Amino acid sequence: MPSVKRFATLDTLSRAAADQLAMIASRGPCHIALSGGSTPKRMFQILAERGRKALAWDNVELWWGDERCVPPDHPDSNYGMTKQFLIDPLGLDAATIHRIAGERDPDAAAADYERELVAALGTPPVLDLVLLGMGPDGHTASLFPNSPGLTETKRFVIANRVDSPLTKGPATRVTLTYPAIDAAKRVVFVVAGADKADALAKVLEGPRGALPSQLVAATDIAWFVDDAAAARLAR
Ligand code: 6PG
Repeated sequence: MPSVKRFATLDTLSRAAADQLAMIASRGPCHIALSGGSTPKRMFQILAERGRKALAWDNVELWWGDERCVPPDHPDSNYGMTKQFLIDPLGLDAATIHRIAGERDPDAAAADYERELVAALGTPPVLDLVLLGMGPDGHTASLFPNSPGLTETKRFVIANRVDSPLTKGPATRVTLTYPAIDAAKRVVFVVAGADKADALAKVLEGPRGALPSQLVAATDIAWFVDDAAAARLAR
């Protein structure tokens, strides 16, 4: 059973997630994959408020678990949100930032990102920490229910063709696959909000293997959840 830590609010949850980055960075050079969506924004703001000296940023190289197929300055860009709330405020060195080129052909962007990841971290690429979010349908990164990415066992990065109300219909997203996520030393899901409560209860307490977030099989998985998302958990 993975470890589940509950926090009263998104703010206290985000502070704990920020502390995870600080703890890993304090150990030395590390490669951290950030999640997308809106949940990480508060964590980024907290890290920026704490200032550059509060964390060994010179030890950190940043990657992403997934990216939307949009330019980096598009409001939907995961990199764009990170740049606005974390990278620019802290003045992080561009050489340590490995973004997925959402503006390019998705298959080419996925292939290049995989090459970059393998060149830096080997085969399989071993990230020190992968932060993951979870959607109300139980998806994580851009591994959505019924999408081809769920059965990818060789590639570390793919352009996943998804069709979900959460992507406003058919869309392509570049995403880490389970082989890449599962190779990580530590995976931390950061999940907040009442809209996640049903999916979280199914993922943590429901029948195995039905939802994408349940298929993550890294050796060290932790769930950081707020009380609203944990509302339907029996335990
Ligand atoms: C993305 C993601 C996705 C996200 C979840 C939760 O690009 O959207 O990486 O997996 O983490 O959908 O999104 P919210 O944090 O916005 O609820």
